[in-house]
Amino acid sequence: MLDHGAPPQSPDRPSPPGPGTGARLMRRKPVERLVEEGGQGEGGTLRRSLGLWQLTMISIGATLGTGIFVVLGEAVPDAGPAVTLAFVIAGLTALFSALSYAELAGTIPVSGSSYSYAYATMGELVAWVCGWCLVLEYGVSVAAVAVGWGEYLNELLDGTIGVTLPDALSAPPGDGGIFNLPALIVVLLAMVFLLGGARESARANTIMVAVKITALLLFCVIGVQGFRSGNYENFMPLGMAGVSAAGATLFFSYIGFDAASTAGEEAKNAQRDLPRAIMLSLVIVTALYVLVAAVAVGARPWQKFDGSEAALAGIMKETTGDAFWGTVLAAGAVIAIASVVLTVLYGQTRILFAMSRDGLVPKVFSRVHPKTGTPRANTVIVSLFCGVLAAAIPLGQLADATSIGTLFAFALVNVAVVVLRRTRPEMPRTFRVPLSPVLPALGFVFCVWMMGSLDTVTWVVFGVWMAVGLVFYFSYGYRRSRLATPVATPVATPEK
Ligand code: ALA
Repeated sequence: MLDHGAPPQSPDRPSPPGPGTGARLMRRKPVERLVEEGGQGEGGTLRRSLGLWQLTMISIGATLGTGIFVVLGEAVPDAGPAVTLAFVIAGLTALFSALSYAELAGTIPVSGSSYSYAYATMGELVAWVCGWCLVLEYGVSVAAVAVGWGEYLNELLDGTIGVTLPDALSAPPGDGGIFNLPALIVVLLAMVFLLGGARESARANTIMVAVKITALLLFCVIGVQGFRSGNYENFMPLGMAGVSAAGATLFFSYIGFDAASTAGEEAKNAQRDLPRAIMLSLVIVTALYVLVAAVAVGARPWQKFDGSEAALAGIMKETTGDAFWGTVLAAGAVIAIASVVLTVLYGQTRILFAMSRDGLVPKVFSRVHPKTGTPRANTVIVSLFCGVLAAAIPLGQLADATSIGTLFAFALVNVAVVVLRRTRPEMPRTFRVPLSPVLPALGFVFCVWMMGSLDTVTWVVFGVWMAVGLVFYFSYGYRRSRLATPVATPVATPEK
């Protein structure tokens, strides 16, 4: 394999690793070098096996899950029937950032997503901070979503065989249990798929996405039969404030559209397909969300949503008078949420892969298994970490921090797109954000505004998270960064 220790000349003019700390923190990784290293890990390369269809399914897989199946029910008491509008507002926030993601994914088609975009434009420290936020967006959210999966599994078990897991085995200590077994199981199942290879995982994900879309369309077909236009009479019972609070809550349901950007090094034609996959998935998901929300609040008066149950399954039961349909929907949700776990776990492994290749996290994360072309050790470590986190720790506020971390990363992507337009205007771009810098600026403002609407405790958790990340960076990545050691880095033996 080529050695990429010595940075090639590029118009990015990477800051030489001189004595100044400031210069070292600001060192940027040239776009050409990012792209040239694409796919290469320790001892092997990732396999390019994903086309537009699979990439779109990865993004939809990572997005469509607990947000629509669970969080919708929590947002209705705030917004009333205008929850449909709240979905549009949250979708708009996602859209501005999605445009920026699409441009950068087409220009820098690697697997590090916003971490790599920040490295190319704003320097190493910002890139590290961004990558650390992505651990919140991906790693911690896998754990949070796995917990939601366990709840739906219990509902499914109850509806089919009349048995539910005892609290001791379905909740962590502190939440009334000992260990959340289903949460661990779903993460380990996802791990098994991922170890089989990206294409195999993508195939399984595609089937699961088909099932979840079918479940939501089925909900619409059945739910619309209980539709009463009178349920829309008081459209915005708590005014615009309620709608925007609901929008901030519902933003969670859009997290994941960027997942295709973690697959850049396994895409067959990344420059062409990544921007399309990101935009296509966002359009499909938004349309589904608005449709499902419109049917849900049409079929059930908004006052009857108390946020404490799986609303969609409840509406199915009420409309048909038959518990069977509620169980069918619970089955759809179990599969839907499993595919979020699979794709988000995938994204986390690929982001760490990119960070490891850059020397910012240990090399074990970029070791590639020669047979499957996957980062095997990385996948096992990340899965065990997320599985144990989901099973043994009451996530509480940490799960809320997922949104703040994501918004922070999105905000940086909006900045990165403008910076790259200025520093590298000549680079070929397969997709361009229209009206730049206006739309990226709007994207940035929306993200900051949404961050501002999150509560103080979430900010404190976020602050602590960042402080831990900075300690890690200064004690490890700062010195071991490959930009700090432009000497040949020997390639390790392939993983056996
Ligand atoms: N958007 C993902 C979900 O709703 C995180 O489950």
